[in-house]
Amino acid sequence: MPNTTIRAFEPSDEPEFLETQRVAFRGLEYLPRVKVGLLALDHEGSFVAERDGSVIGCVGLFKLERPGWFEVRNLAVKDLHPEKLAVDLLAKTSDYLDSKRPEFVKASTPAVQPYVDLYKRTGFVPARRSVRIRWDLSTCKISESKVETRNLLKEHANDAAEVWVEGLRPHWDYWIEEQGGPDELKAWVKQSVGKDTGWIGAFFENKLVGVAILRADSYGKGEARFNGAYALPDYRQQGIGTALMNASIREARQFLQDRMRVYTLAYLDHLAPGAILYLKSGGLIEAEYLQLEKKGNKS
Ligand SMILES: CC(C)(COP(=O)(O)OP(=O)(O)OC[C@H]1O[C@@H](n2cnc3c(N)ncnc32)[C@H](O)[C@@H]1OP(=O)(O)O)[C@@H](O)C(=O)NCCC(=O)NCCS
Repeated sequence: MPNTTIRAFEPSDEPEFLETQRVAFRGLEYLPRVKVGLLALDHEGSFVAERDGSVIGCVGLFKLERPGWFEVRNLAVKDLHPEKLAVDLLAKTSDYLDSKRPEFVKASTPAVQPYVDLYKRTGFVPARRSVRIRWDLSTCKISESKVETRNLLKEHANDAAEVWVEGLRPHWDYWIEEQGGPDELKAWVKQSVGKDTGWIGAFFENKLVGVAILRADSYGKGEARFNGAYALPDYRQQGIGTALMNASIREARQFLQDRMRVYTLAYLDHLAPGAILYLKSGGLIEAEYLQLEKKGNKS
């Protein structure tokens, strides 16, 4: 391709990297989240394609929290014709990865073509979907619930760590592994509860049985990040999730949030309970992503 060069990502490329996502996915991609993700970008394994001094394509590589585990995402080109540029970008990241002898590689992309097929052609196999769900907080309705919910304090930190990790199972087992295992996650909860705002607990006979995590202004002023609602497996389908959603929406309004967004799991052929809970509490699916894994990895 005349005048097109592919080179490693540099920090000053960030604005054009984001602009490439916007153009490639016609606004479907949520740029504040992509921007937060770039903090963890592996610069050597991420590439931009440049033509006449402008970025026209990019791909990002991210190290997961386990040695030898990687994620490829943000493959995007401004103009899909010719498609070869996207193929070349993916090949660059693959070559870099090969030199690292990875144990496990996954990929994520907005679930649109040709990106899904481009990943499949290089040996990635669809594993699951995720959906981005948005609540418009001025209009969504909350109902009254008999389940007690309150903001968590430092004294709840140890219980919250146990409830969160058990509450993630079994749907998020893959993610617990990607994050380095249950102890890593518990350690993060223990240092966060009582320090960071937005930890909400649901109690049954004074026992903590569910948690929800809200991060106000995370994606910009008034744009909250919802890190999900979780109930202990033995306490599911008894209204705990609904109570956590009511409390989270109420809390978000108190923090003067306009919208709240979550990225949540969907299996390839059906929604997980979390997505069902969110849709029933007034959330709307904004976008769908596909997560793929490379065959032969993670033996
Ligand atoms: C998602 C979760 C919190 C729901 O909690 P819950 O206490 O079971 O939720 P509720 O009892 O309040 O049910 C809420 C609604 O979702 C529906 N629902 C809950 N689990 C369901 C399931 N397995 N299949 C279908 N619908 C389900 C309920 O029928 C209910 O609908 P209704 O209001 O019309 O009766 C719980 O399943 C869980 O902890 N899952 C694992 C953690 C997770 O994936 N969280 C999302 C992270 S982003």
